Amino acid sequence: MQKPDSQTTPCSVVVLISGNGSNLQALMDSSIDSNYRINKVISNKADAYGLSRAEQANIATQFIDHRQFNSREEFDSALIVAIDEIKPDLIVLAGFMRILSNKFVRHYSGKVLNIHPSLLPAYPGTNTHQRVLDAGEKEHGVSVHFVTEELDGGPIIAQDRIEILSSDNAESLSHRIHTREHILYPRVVSWFAAGRLRMDANQAYLDGELLPAAAIKPT
Ligand code: GRF
Repeated sequence: MQKPDSQTTPCSVVVLISGNGSNLQALMDSSIDSNYRINKVISNKADAYGLSRAEQANIATQFIDHRQFNSREEFDSALIVAIDEIKPDLIVLAGFMRILSNKFVRHYSGKVLNIHPSLLPAYPGTNTHQRVLDAGEKEHGVSVHFVTEELDGGPIIAQDRIEILSSDNAESLSHRIHTREHILYPRVVSWFAAGRLRMDANQAYLDGELLPAAAIKPT
């Protein structure tokens, strides 16, 4: 893949989705005044609303049905072919509900970002909003991280946190977390596009500084 050159060509991004795509929408909206362009959106679900959002923005879309493949590796090989048609600088997972194979992660090492609705390393996996409520947590949040072979375990780049209110339920937390995600994710993508962000030896660096495990709060 090419290196982003923020002085000339905007960073080319492929976004992988499975559903609503509100983060995709935030990324598309921000890209208008930013240093990256979304050149393709790929979904493993035919009815993902995010595909319609991309089509409305005249962005190329592709549906690849994971059920048509015998193994995770075969599906991921088809994904790699679809992504490499674009030769993107960055791959952004935005509600992509598939675990990626080690082959895929190695192929794009240091070039894949994910957003996860918890304060990682707490609450990897799914159903995070209900789980934090069930555990009686006082705060919750969102994390953006590089994707590595460990599920939701790659180096954290940025987090934002919210206080859990006594009136919160899983739905209200989802809504409040999404609002934060829509600000945080475009910001991190623009850091990458500017060449400010990199992963080296499973650690994240911003402007050459090692990012702390308890990652920075956005400004
Ligand atoms: C977000 O909560 C994100 O953190 C998680 O999946 C959800 C996607 O939401 N990975 P949307 O499809 O972007 O609305």
